[in-house]
Amino acid sequence: MNIGIITGGGDCPGLNAVIRAVVRRALNYNYNCFGIRNGWKGLVDGSIEILDLNSISGILHRGGTILGTSRTNPLKREEDERLLFENLKKFNLDVICAIGGEDTLGVAQKLHEKGVKIVGIPKTIDNDLNATDFTFGFDTAVNIAMEAIDRLHTTAESHNRVIVVEVMGRHAGWIAVYAGLAGGADVILIPEKPFDLDEVSGYIKARHIRGKNFSIVVVSEGAKLKTENLADKDGSLVLSSLSKDEFGHVRLGGIGNVIAQEIEKRTGFETRAVILGHIQRGGSPTAYDRVLGTRFGVAAVDLIRDSKFGRMVALHGNEIVDVPLIEAVGELKLVDLKLYEVAEVFFG
Ligand code: F6P
Repeated sequence: MNIGIITGGGDCPGLNAVIRAVVRRALNYNYNCFGIRNGWKGLVDGSIEILDLNSISGILHRGGTILGTSRTNPLKREEDERLLFENLKKFNLDVICAIGGEDTLGVAQKLHEKGVKIVGIPKTIDNDLNATDFTFGFDTAVNIAMEAIDRLHTTAESHNRVIVVEVMGRHAGWIAVYAGLAGGADVILIPEKPFDLDEVSGYIKARHIRGKNFSIVVVSEGAKLKTENLADKDGSLVLSSLSKDEFGHVRLGGIGNVIAQEIEKRTGFETRAVILGHIQRGGSPTAYDRVLGTRFGVAAVDLIRDSKFGRMVALHGNEIVDVPLIEAVGELKLVDLKLYEVAEVFFG
């Protein structure tokens, strides 16, 4: 049995733990593993190499992915799709183990429908993939953001400033809510709950009235304005670039700056913005992500052993289960508004 392993989409702490676990478990069954370089691009280019014990030694704690990644959509151009199928044959790949988020696993589902034997492993720091309680990488991103919020607290307090911290989260505010709750944010803004700048400023003014001369506002990059139109045409997003990736996603970033300026205007308090950006995706995974990634990797090879293709390993409670890939990619998993209500208790 020859398994091709692919890591696609944005990189994510814990990817190497997954790759290591897949290869180690595969060796238990005498299966061969091949690393596909740079996401789906490697399957189009034929950039594929054998993965043995040596290739995965010493990578458990390392961030990023030893295989490289990209946002290539191999089904966008007929020629790429033809090359992909040609390479599957040429390299004798019997099964693909796809480690990715909505886009990578969306391609995996389509390939499954076209007859490719495939299993999925859920990855994204955004935690917005359906059919799993958590994706690996999220815990690391939350801890990085929480630590940043802790650090920003002390400087905000020393200077009597408001600091707006922008975190990742294109469509879902999981990182903002978890990091904001853990870091004691005074306001948290997420895509699922459009906000009003006067309301946000009201929370900050209320803090100052009760003697707190600093505030921390955590905002997801994809947060939407309720009433104002400070941004792009539909008044909902602040784009850092108009270019789209191969899956049609625009590049977000910069809403923190807009909100900071507006808060300063409305409250008169000195306000600064900090955009955490890719810092949230870099560096070593937490213990939680290493363990979750390892469990996912081992379980994915067991799915292959059992010929359960077109399925994704998932975390339900504390159990690793498997679900149809289609359930994971149908729609995104948005923040539970009950959780947001808990965060709201601490606003202002
Ligand atoms: O992969 C998820 C994510 O980190 C999003 O939170 C963010 O919007 C996007 O990727 C950034 O993508 P890129 O690395 O291509 O700029």
